[in-house]
Parts: sequence; structure tokens; C-alpha cells
Amino acid sequence: MKIGMVDIIERKRDGQTLSKEQIDWFVRGVTQGEIPDYQTAALLMAIYLQGMDRRETVDLTLAMAGSGDELDLHDVAPFVVDKHSSGGVGDKTTLVVQPLVAACGVPVGKMSGRGLGSSGGTLDKMESIAGWSHDLSLQRFKEQLAEIGLVLAGQTADLAPADGKLYALRDVTGTVSSLPLIAASIMSKKLAAGADAIVLDVKSGSGAFMPTKEAARELAQTMVDIGVDAGRKVTALISDMNQPLGHAVGNALEVAEAIETLRGEGPPDFWSHCLQVASQMILLSKRARSDEEAREQVRAARDSGRAFDKFRQMVARQGGDVSQVEEPQRLPQAPLSQQVVAPEEGYLASMNTSALGWAAVHLGAGRQTKGEAIDHAVGFVMPVKVGVHLQQGEPVATIHARSGEEALQAEQEILSALRWSREPVESLPHFYGTIQGGQDGSFGR
Ligand code: URA
Repeated sequence: MKIGMVDIIERKRDGQTLSKEQIDWFVRGVTQGEIPDYQTAALLMAIYLQGMDRRETVDLTLAMAGSGDELDLHDVAPFVVDKHSSGGVGDKTTLVVQPLVAACGVPVGKMSGRGLGSSGGTLDKMESIAGWSHDLSLQRFKEQLAEIGLVLAGQTADLAPADGKLYALRDVTGTVSSLPLIAASIMSKKLAAGADAIVLDVKSGSGAFMPTKEAARELAQTMVDIGVDAGRKVTALISDMNQPLGHAVGNALEVAEAIETLRGEGPPDFWSHCLQVASQMILLSKRARSDEEAREQVRAARDSGRAFDKFRQMVARQGGDVSQVEEPQRLPQAPLSQQVVAPEEGYLASMNTSALGWAAVHLGAGRQTKGEAIDHAVGFVMPVKVGVHLQQGEPVATIHARSGEEALQAEQEILSALRWSREPVESLPHFYGTIQGGQDGSFGR
């Protein structure tokens, strides 16, 4: 029977499932620009409202993964492991985890993206380093992966191009936060990038796409199922994003914090996060037999300085100024720094983490319009965490800004994102659970 777009839209609108042939036909049509945006948008809204079952979600993901180039890195790396974060505030995990894992002997070739909304992007952070480039040909990507086991590149337009088209339409049709569409979008890019094993860091909380643990868990389970059905090994961690990760928010400030962490000095919550993600990557690549053994390897990679050396090598190979890695005070610095203090005595009860992310964006650390230039030097460092007790006037954050006016606005935004309590408040956990290869791990607080 001839497949048609109106029929596909009507089926989904009425809550029926789409066949693999219909999904393949739709994704091919979108990729080749043959389906008008109004029909694609109508189907996206029908999927948003009616959902997709596991088989449909897997078929959609595989069709999107196959819509462009599919990398095969096995000629340079016998087993390819990748990670993905669903995005958060202060999330500079890739900068630390990639060199840690590479220093344990597991090659990591990763494609990363830019900031989205209030969450930062790895490429924006790395571009704080003068001269560093993410723009590598496939041949250079492979050469570097073979030679130093570590490469960090930008996502090419030829990888899962259907996702680029669908994402742009979702962004303007109120259909971004659909679970099967997010899962297919993320996993199609990971599958096309050639990973044998993937660690997913799914964030939950006020600074994340998924505001609740339950929603994050459902997204994580869906992505694990897709990976398993596509023959890949996948572990999903559900991690907290009800406060920024580490202390620094803003590009150069985050690079400096990542370097500090590789040197064994970073914030404890951030190190514990990196240790968990890196050890899961080591476990998936079968370099360790137990969680403890994997953690030992990761700690040794940091303590011996091997991970820091890997990061330095990667920066050098990609044209970056290594002196800024060796002396992070040479990274871009904002002309002005201003302290924010506690307005009253009390316990820090909660943070609106997305509002904190937006405070950094408004300072210039992120984009408010597509393609806008960003200021790598600005942002803030906030060493306080939920549950801490402060006296009135004790420091909460240090803002790094271009002007006094911008610093003042950031101060107001930061203070209004924080809630205080007279009663003691429990600190937040780092992780809420793990989902492995289709079966549940621990979950819950
Ligand atoms: N990240 C993606 O790549 N796609 C989504 O849909 C959401 C987050």
C-alpha cells in the first residue's frame, strides 16, 4: 500500500502505532526535504500528545541514526565508549571524564555540542582556550584517536541530519519535551557516532530538562532500551541537577575548575560525579571487573597526573594554547569581580538552578539568540550547596562580569534563585539511581 503523510498523521493522532515502513518513509522524506514543515509539525504534535511505544521509538531512532553518515571507528579503536549528559548548569564533566578514561587506556572520541537555553555546552567551554578548534575532518579525528586516544570534536551536520531538521521544528512548535522525541534525538546521534557502549548522565531537577526523578528515570529507561535494541551496551545514571555541579558556572571559569579537578583539587561533589561517570565507562569497556576496581583505576589516572597530561595533549593537538592549561590564570579573565553575600542567617534550602544558569547567560556566558557571540570570561563561582548554614554577610558567590551594571543584575538574579530556612535542611544526593542494559539498578533516595 502506498504510504502517505496524511495517513501517518491521522494514525498517530488517533493513538495507533506507526509501522517501521511508515517511520522509515517519514524520516527519509524529512531528511530529503520532501515533506512540508506543516505536516512534519503536525506529526510531531501527534507524537507529543499520543507518545510512541518501545518498538516505534527504536525504529524512529534507528531511522534518524541512519539518515546520514554512520561512523565506524573500529579501524582505530577496538571498542568505542562514549558519554552523554542531558545538560545542566556547571556541567563540565566531559572535560574531566574524557581524559580520565583515556588515561586508563580506553580510547574516547567524542562529539559535543553548544549550550542550549540555561545549560552550558562543552564546545563553548573549550573555546575559552585560545586557538582550540573542534573542527576536525573525519581523517584527523581518527588519527588523533589512534595516536593519543582522546579527541573532542563538534557534531558534524552529516551525522543524523534528520535530527537537525526535526529539532529545529520541535523548538518552535512546543514539542521539545516529548520523551520519545528527546530519547530518539539523543540516541540517534550517539548511535551514528559509532559508540559500542554509552554512559548516559540523565539530569533531574530544577536545572534539567526533566524536573522530577520519575521523568528522568523514564527518559533514562527509554534510552537504555533503545541502546539495547540497537545492540549497544548502555548504562544510565540519574543524577541531581537541583544545584549547579561543582562551583563554577561560565566557560573559562569551568575550564579552570576542570583543570583543578584533574590536578586533584576540584570541588568534592564534582569529583565524585566524574569518578562515578568515568568508572561506569571503564566498567562498560570491560577494563575492570568491579566497580571498586574501576574507581581505583580512575583515581590512579588522576593521582599520577596521566589524566591531566592527556587533557594537555588533546588541547595541543587541537591547536590550543597549552600555557593556559598549565597556568589557568592565563584563561580569559573578566575585568570585574563582585561578591554576593547571604542576606540573612539560615540554611540554604533550595536553588532555582535554571535561574542560576540564566544569570550566567545574562552576564554573557551563553546565547540569547541563535549564533550570538559569547563572553568566555564571565560567570560566577558559587561554593555553597543546599543544606549549608551561613551567617548573614557570609559569601555565597563571586560574580565575574564585564560591567558593574551586569554584576548588579546577576547579584539580584542569584539571590532571588535561592531560598533560605531557619530549620536545618538535608544536603542533596549526587545520584538517584542507575539503569543498566534494560534492567533496573538501585533507585530512589
Ligand atoms: N538534547 C538533544 O540532543 N535532543 C533533545 O531533544 C534534547 C536534548
